[in-house]
Amino acid sequence: MSSTAVSSRALRLAAHRARTLPAARTGAELRACADAAQRRNLNVHATTVAGKLKTIDDLPGPSLSTNLYWMFVKGYADKSHLLQGLQKSIYGPIWRTKFGPMDVVNVATPELIAEVIRQEGRYPIRAELPHWKEHRDMRGYAYGLHVDTGPEWYRLRSVLNPKMLKLQEVSAYAPIIHEVVGDLLQRIKLLRSRSQDQVTVSDITSELYKFGFEGISSILFETRLGCLQEEIPKDTLRFISATNDMLTLSMTVPLLPRWTRNILPFWKRFIQAWDDLYDVAKILIDRRMAQIEAQVSRGEPVEGMYLTHLLSSELSRAEVYITVMELLLGGVDTTSNTLSWALYHLARDPKAQEQLYSEVNSVCPDRREPTTDNLSQMPYMKAVIKETLRLYPVVPGNGRFASENEVVVANYWFPKKTQFHLCHYTTYHDEAEFVDAELFIPERWLRTREPGSICGRPSNTNYYRHHPYSFIPFGVGVRACVGKRLAEMELYFALSRLIQHYEVQHEEGAPVIEPKTRTLLIPAKPINLRFLSRD
Ligand code: HEM
Repeated sequence: MSSTAVSSRALRLAAHRARTLPAARTGAELRACADAAQRRNLNVHATTVAGKLKTIDDLPGPSLSTNLYWMFVKGYADKSHLLQGLQKSIYGPIWRTKFGPMDVVNVATPELIAEVIRQEGRYPIRAELPHWKEHRDMRGYAYGLHVDTGPEWYRLRSVLNPKMLKLQEVSAYAPIIHEVVGDLLQRIKLLRSRSQDQVTVSDITSELYKFGFEGISSILFETRLGCLQEEIPKDTLRFISATNDMLTLSMTVPLLPRWTRNILPFWKRFIQAWDDLYDVAKILIDRRMAQIEAQVSRGEPVEGMYLTHLLSSELSRAEVYITVMELLLGGVDTTSNTLSWALYHLARDPKAQEQLYSEVNSVCPDRREPTTDNLSQMPYMKAVIKETLRLYPVVPGNGRFASENEVVVANYWFPKKTQFHLCHYTTYHDEAEFVDAELFIPERWLRTREPGSICGRPSNTNYYRHHPYSFIPFGVGVRACVGKRLAEMELYFALSRLIQHYEVQHEEGAPVIEPKTRTLLIPAKPINLRFLSRD
């Protein structure tokens, strides 16, 4: 039997096993499961029955040589999202990967992901990130959101959450986001006018990185940086390039022994990337603070948005620097890649694009800018974004480090300090959860629809049924994405206005673009699109 046949048979078995696990719980039940009392009980259980349960050493998993073979011979080094599915097909829904200093328990069904998250404790940790921490220690910086743990992390989140996650507060950013989207439209107009056929924009993702960076900067600094102008500020390009280096090297650096640091270039480049990220954030903050001080000394009122909020909070200056850097970092790859993939699919699916256009046009005729209230009348657009995030999750695999407690998952007992890898890409692409999982079908998220036909294919209620943990693109619980609401607003405003102005097409004979992993999931090749004016 060929390895593909073995894999697909094992995949079907894994899918069957997933289907035969206990029935999916409702969102409310899951939330109830997460309360502190239940967490305590699970841990008592874990401690007392440890002797009877299997342990991490009983888990199946690849040997070091198999891992090396997959990574470097079969080319999975930048396709770790696909390695999840391959390994699940061989070892089942839970397995162990040991690779150098890395020792990880992978879980790849929504039920097992839910089990891990339910036991994440009061102060969840994604991963220890010793290499990120080492950079902060070397430079004497504060740790920040990603590296800080326990009550210290929670203190940071408590300052950020109110103005980032409360819908009403985030709605206040709508006018500035619309301004940034206006710049994006201008930029697209300019780029297409410069192309040979007057309509093509090459490598749309790199343009959208600038859009993402301008979007988050405009909120943080209360001023516009002009990232989408003719002359792109050099610090913007430096930040985007350092983001690329840092995210790429974050996958390599932890696997290399320390003694290689003076011989191989990776560690030095990794540190340089962090230095650049920090430096740019500091320059922008200091510049804005000087402006604020000048305004105050002239007796002028200061419009307070996000930076002002951070500066007037209990955070130290060092914490403000690192926090702003991390928020900027969150703005580069996330919304931009999602928007690129959404446009890529709409270009290949004219019916879906037409449906989106007619929805946007009926809610906001004559290219009126949508308000935040209008967005609730655009379910199809939200479905397009959800379906995009399902097919191309920016975070294809997340982590939970069981720092506080021992845990029990799938009848295995794990000691404190076990690192879990939540294989989201695999669950998002699992036929057991999503019928025709590899197809772009926004309709699957429109639950009010009657069963019948979806995109010309007969459908049934299975299209709408999936486990609540089979799709959690922004994470869940207290450690979930702090930028979720802002990201959604940027995505909805940008997509609706682009579609108001343009019909998007792919280039004649354009190849299928696959994703690749650079810590986050990004397009492996540039996406070139044709923007035909709807005038
Ligand atoms: C499509 C857009 C985005 C997606 C899919 C996304 C997804 C995620 C996910 C899955 C996590 C981990 C959550 C967990 O561990 O449970 C996360 C964390 C985070 N995200 Fe996002 N994100 C997006 C946009 C943004 C934006 C625009 C920002 C900046 C404002 C941002 C800032 C952050 C930060 C700072 C964290 C770490 C939070 C913490 O550790 O407390 N994200 N994001």
